Amino acid sequence: MTLTPTPDRAPLLREMTAALSAMPDPTACGHLRSFEDEAAHALGTGHAVAVSSGTAALHAALSACGIGPGDEVLVPALTVIMTVAPVRALGAMPVFVDSDPATLDLDYEDAAQKVTPRTRAIIPVHLWGRMGDPGTLAAFASERGLTIVEDAAQAIGTIRNGRPAGTVGTVGCFSMKDGKILWSGEGGALITDSGQIAEHARAFRSHWQPAPPGEAPLSRLATNSRLAAPLAALALANLRHLPALLERRRAQTRYLLNALERIPGLTALAPAADEEWNGFSPLLHIGLSRPRAFAEHLAQQGVPNSTGSFRLVPCDTRPPFPRPQQPCRGTAEILDHTLAVVLAEGDTQATLDHYTDVITRAASTWTP
Ligand SMILES: Cc1ncc(COP(=O)(O)O)c(C=O)c1O
Repeated sequence: MTLTPTPDRAPLLREMTAALSAMPDPTACGHLRSFEDEAAHALGTGHAVAVSSGTAALHAALSACGIGPGDEVLVPALTVIMTVAPVRALGAMPVFVDSDPATLDLDYEDAAQKVTPRTRAIIPVHLWGRMGDPGTLAAFASERGLTIVEDAAQAIGTIRNGRPAGTVGTVGCFSMKDGKILWSGEGGALITDSGQIAEHARAFRSHWQPAPPGEAPLSRLATNSRLAAPLAALALANLRHLPALLERRRAQTRYLLNALERIPGLTALAPAADEEWNGFSPLLHIGLSRPRAFAEHLAQQGVPNSTGSFRLVPCDTRPPFPRPQQPCRGTAEILDHTLAVVLAEGDTQATLDHYTDVITRAASTWTP
């Protein structure tokens, strides 16, 4: 089994040089406009709005959906704190929902119990590129009148039951930070079919200037979360190669999971039967004793992974939030037992062979 070749960097340099040659020009936004038009087309939605990060995309999206003080927003505890920060920034309250260890999808029984008259929205998070069942999500939200804002930061390219990540809800949010499949160094984008939401997001990312039709510029407090021109140029060049970037990540993940197929104590977590997974992060269930310590050990040995390197813990237990009376136990079980290897576009066959060697050695010598 071999990997697809490292994507050609020449188009990136070409677009970057074009962006630089137009700078400094505060009115120049050619790459940004092209990125937004081409992203909307490639992702099959009416509008795409580029911003400075995935966090900023969520912030603009939630603002555009009218989330504000006094509102409650359902968020899986199985996520990073960046999903939740924009909820708080808008004065709303995150309400953490557990996930099901058998599927990694939301625990809808738990979610149903946590809905109150103040609940306005739900943010499904497609962590590691895995999508929950879109039909169940849509039915849950519509029965309760909730807006769906998807955190698809890691999920570009995943399709479940025919629904691309980011298109199940009212708005889908992506990150383009380094390490993401579609990257621009830093950056983010939201997609939506609603022209009103897109206009709000464009105003929100730039201190309400230009304002949506019928509103005065600078008439509301907002943010500066514009995407800088050189980064828009990188985003555009990468977007034009998105199928190749996706194929490379999928090939890297297949390669590593294939090499680790027979390691005692480690079992690949297969995607759902109706899921075309983007392969964001090779996922394995750790059936060894002290699984979190095992992931931390691998991180120390140079195999980057979600729990070992980035100390991913259930978000409801993070210090900014009140200590949960009933912690999300399914989420803790998932995170404690999941090895999610962190990949980057530049990881070669040699990198992945090295990871295989380290993981194989560590698993075979791991003592209870
Ligand atoms: C699931 C998830 N949500 C949100 C974010 C925030 O994106 P950014 O770092 O671009 O602000 C990230 C970034 O890694 C993420 O993985």
